[in-house]
Amino acid sequence: MPDSRETHPVRAFVTGYPVRHSRSPMIHGHWLRQFGIAGSYEAIEVPPEDFAAFIGGLKDGRSGLAGGNVTIPHKERAFELADRPDELARELGAANTLFLEDGELCATNTDGYGFLTNLDTTAPGWSDRRERAVVLGAGGASRAILQALRDRGFAEIHVLNRTVSRAEELADRFGPRLHAAPMAALAERLTGADLFVNTTSLGMDDGATPEIDFTRMRPGGLVTDIVYVPLVTPILAQARDQGLAIADGLGMLLHQAVPGFERWFGQRPEVTAELRALVVADMERHR
Ligand code: ATR
Repeated sequence: MPDSRETHPVRAFVTGYPVRHSRSPMIHGHWLRQFGIAGSYEAIEVPPEDFAAFIGGLKDGRSGLAGGNVTIPHKERAFELADRPDELARELGAANTLFLEDGELCATNTDGYGFLTNLDTTAPGWSDRRERAVVLGAGGASRAILQALRDRGFAEIHVLNRTVSRAEELADRFGPRLHAAPMAALAERLTGADLFVNTTSLGMDDGATPEIDFTRMRPGGLVTDIVYVPLVTPILAQARDQGLAIADGLGMLLHQAVPGFERWFGQRPEVTAELRALVVADMERHR
């Protein structure tokens, strides 16, 4: 029997509000062309009040979509509306990847996978020493990072946030290896750390950032930022100037897209220098 994908081109989507700045169509479009797949991946902007109806259309097949990505502000609702969220999505309370299976809407979250795979490929051996990680920020983007670092086996994960109560909530959610602290504790928590991750919007689009003394970290420690505009954020520039290894956040965006593409289109794509260059060129065009 021919694969139904050969007779009915698969359609996938990214939905958000707004969604026009999303680079996902560029990433998936590149892979579709590379494999010569006659499918499509389109950006569909859905305001919050219409999101449940959009998911309804996806579930009953009326929209003709096989699945897709979900971004801000729909990740929590997507998880709630899914029939079969996996364990990762359940613990996060948020989903970024949806697909239909036997008529049911399945949901997962590939942000943690993207984060880890980016570091595994750009800084091999980064988690060989995993005694202490420091994560700045306790917003939506921080959760998948905390979950991923815990699952990678970090012994202590310190989450620092301007609003300490949000850091405390996340420490409670992700278990005893998590420790919440205020921003003022940064220098102390950073001492001897193997990894520092910025998940806040600090430094995004060249905004102001605090001075951080990265020399307190373990020599050979790694600093990364999930913000990727600009590619070298002020936090990464500070760390680099202080002699630390750095990894930018663009790879996380590219790698988180891999499992979804494989699910919808049946081929596992690769994150290549060519794909990265394509996205970087687009970022430069829109500076
Ligand atoms: P996202 O879902 O993208 O993570 P968010 O939920 O709005 O976005 O979280 C943004 C993060 O950046 C939070 O950790 C926020 O700190 P608060 O929880 O205290 O708001 C942090 N953040 C944003 N602007 C900041 C600033 N000027 N100083 C310190 N932290 C800031």
